[in-house]
Amino acid sequence: PIIPVILSGGSGTRLWPLSRPELPKQLLPLTAEETMLQLTARRTGGERFAAPIVVANALHADQVEAQLAEAGAVPQALVLEPIGRNTAPAIALAAIAAGGGSDPILVMPSDHVIADVEAFHAAIHAALPLVQEGWLVTFGITPDAPETGYGWIKVGEQLGGRVHRVEHFVEKPPLDKAQAMLAAGNYAWNGGIFLFRADMYLGALSVYAPEMLVATQQAMERARREGIRIWPEAEAFARSPSDSIDYAVMEKAPRVAVVPVAMGWSDVGSWDALHAISEADGDGNVHRGDVIAIETANCLVRSEAGKRVALVGVRDLIVVAVGDDVIVLPRGRSQEVKKIIEAMKR
Ligand code: GDD
Ligand code: MG
Repeated sequence: PIIPVILSGGSGTRLWPLSRPELPKQLLPLTAEETMLQLTARRTGGERFAAPIVVANALHADQVEAQLAEAGAVPQALVLEPIGRNTAPAIALAAIAAGGGSDPILVMPSDHVIADVEAFHAAIHAALPLVQEGWLVTFGITPDAPETGYGWIKVGEQLGGRVHRVEHFVEKPPLDKAQAMLAAGNYAWNGGIFLFRADMYLGALSVYAPEMLVATQQAMERARREGIRIWPEAEAFARSPSDSIDYAVMEKAPRVAVVPVAMGWSDVGSWDALHAISEADGDGNVHRGDVIAIETANCLVRSEAGKRVALVGVRDLIVVAVGDDVIVLPRGRSQEVKKIIEAMKR
């Protein structure tokens, strides 16, 4: 079976004030009653998938375990990182926890939306023959905007069925380059979801990031274990360089493939993105919590912890009230939440 690996290490600031270090995006119910982590775990139920391996920040151990139990997706291992070292070492810990053999692992961020799960499963199925041959596979999303926050993939020759060779990656391009790639047409966004054999990933690390491999292997050899929980040894893990899988492996390895797939994917990277993917009422409003909206249109309004938010005669606003924090901004400018974070630091 395929072993799902769920990465739950992000501490998203773009959905502040709802998302915060103690309660990051993946642990929040953003698009449904269930949290993003729970929705992710549910995507790989059924016989073709083993129980997942979850790699999370040690601070979130109790919340992660409780949420997964509630969703009926008890992991086979919960690997608890002492510090964040980005995705490449996190995936190495998971590949080692999986036994490091030829079983395929499906690496998934814990904080994305995939509306069409059947299309996702079909794309995984299409990729499997090449994965078994040793290819590292990523899933490509058809771009519809010149996004600078994603990795882009130049889709190359067809390798068989729907699977194509990756010609090259362009991680987080400047705007003019993103615009050119969007116009060119033969590019896809890197969805951040990967499928490969555990042994092939660790083999690639031995060539392209040997220090990372040694550090993560030592951290796992010396790990403390209790039930499903695994604490990699902090000292060894800290010796790992910090790098993303995109830079450390995917851009360098020779046999890297992409499966283009339309599956209603979103990384829900901003309040605007959340408004766009949520089902709105007849006035275009998306709201949650104790909200009164009179002659109000196309707004995203969220209130938590019983705080009442009332709007009259406004449109195209984002209003979020959590604890002592309230933010109000026009729709279309939610990337600028990071300016608020910076202002708070000063
Ligand atoms: N366990 C663990 N440890 N998870 C981590 C860590 C870590 O140190 N760092 C990041 N993650 C998790 C995040 O929670 C997220 O679910 C996923 O790994 C991806 O990390 P991001 O930090 O969100 O990456 P990104 O958005 O900058 O870029 C990646 O995703 C894009 C798509 O959303 C890249 O793969 C891009 O190429 C891609 O387009
Ligand atoms: Mg991301």
